Amino acid sequence: MNHARIQSTGSYLPDSVMENAELEARVDTTDAWIRERTGIARRHIAAPEQTCSDLAQHAALNAIAAAGLQADDIDCLIVATSTPDQVFPSTACRLIERLNIPSGAIAFDVAAACSGFVYALDIAHRFIQTGGAKRALVIGAEVFSRILDWSDRSTCVLFGDGAGAVILEAAPSAGILSTHLHADGRQEPLLNVPWGISQGYENLDGGRGNVSMRGNEVFRVAVRTLGALVDETLAANDLQRGDVDWLVPHQANIRIMSATARQLGLPLERMVSTVEDHGNTSAASIPLALDCAVRDGRIQRGELLLLEAFGAGFTWGSALIRY
Ligand code: COA
Repeated sequence: MNHARIQSTGSYLPDSVMENAELEARVDTTDAWIRERTGIARRHIAAPEQTCSDLAQHAALNAIAAAGLQADDIDCLIVATSTPDQVFPSTACRLIERLNIPSGAIAFDVAAACSGFVYALDIAHRFIQTGGAKRALVIGAEVFSRILDWSDRSTCVLFGDGAGAVILEAAPSAGILSTHLHADGRQEPLLNVPWGISQGYENLDGGRGNVSMRGNEVFRVAVRTLGALVDETLAANDLQRGDVDWLVPHQANIRIMSATARQLGLPLERMVSTVEDHGNTSAASIPLALDCAVRDGRIQRGELLLLEAFGAGFTWGSALIRY
C-alpha cells in the first residue's frame, strides 16, 4: 500500500461580509446571543453570480500555487458539497476544464453534509493507497446562503459561504495515519433540507429547499458522538489524551468544538477556530480552518493533527494526520 501526505492547502472566502448586526435587522436576534451561543461574529456571503465551483476554483488555484504545481500534475479531483452548481455534471467535473486538469482524470462530488470533507479526504487517501491516483485535489466548497430561510433565526445566523482545498500526494511515509467514517440516518428529521430533485419541483414550496434544524437536539448528539469519535481515533493509533498537537474541527459551534478539545485533553490554544469570522461553512469549514493555521504558521510540518466533523445524515468522521 502507498502512503499519502498533505502537500499543500488553499482557501477562498467571498468578499462580502455579513456582521451579526445585519442579522439583528432581519430577524429577532442579537449580536450578544449569536456570539454567546455559537461563537460566531460574522460570515462571508457569495455574490449573486458566484456558484460553488467559483469558490472552489479560487481555493484550488490557491492550493496548486502553494504546492508549486501545474494543474496537469493532478489526476484526481473530489469536491465535497451539499450546494453543487448543477444536478450534473458534478462540480468536480466542471472544475476539470476551468483548472486545466488533463482529460481523463478522476472527478466526482461527495455528499456527506458537514462531514463531506473528511469523507472526501478518506476516499482520496484510498485512491492513493491503492495506486489509483498519485496526486489528488480535495475540495470542500459551499454556498449555504442559497439554502437558508433568512427569516428563520434558528438557522440563518449559523452558516456562511466559502471553500477550502488540500492537495494529497503519494509519499514515502504516512501523512494520513487513520480515518474513521460513520453514518446513521435514523435521526434525519433533526437536521435536513427536506427537498431534492426526485421529489419534483411541484413539491418545492414553503421553504422545503432550506436547512431545517432542531439545533438543541443536534447539539447534544454532536457533543456525545464527537467525544466517542475522538476516543476511537486515539485508541486506533495507540495515543493518549494530550498527544495530538492540533485539533482542526468542523466549525459549527464554539461550544461543541471546545467540548471536543477538552475530550482530547488539549488547551483551547491548540484548537484551530475560525467560527467567529466564517460561521459554519459545512464541508468547507475544515479545509478553510486548516489553511488559515498553515498560512499563519501555527501548524508546522511534522505535527500531529486531528480533523473531525459531524453533520446531517447524521454523518461523522475524523482523520489523524502527520502534517
Ligand atoms: N437569537 C435569539 N434567540 C434564539 C435564536 C437566535 N438566533 N435562535 C434560537 N433562539 C432562542 C430559541 O427560540 C429558544 O428560545 P425559548 O427558550 O424561548 O424557546 C432559546 O433561544 C434557546 O434555544 P436553543 O435551541 O435551546 O439554543 P441553544 O443554546 O441550543 O443554541 C444552536 C442553538 C443552534 C446555536 C445550538 O443548538 C447548536 O449549535 N446546535 C448544533 C448545530 C450543529 O452542530 N449542527 C450540526 C452541524 S451543521
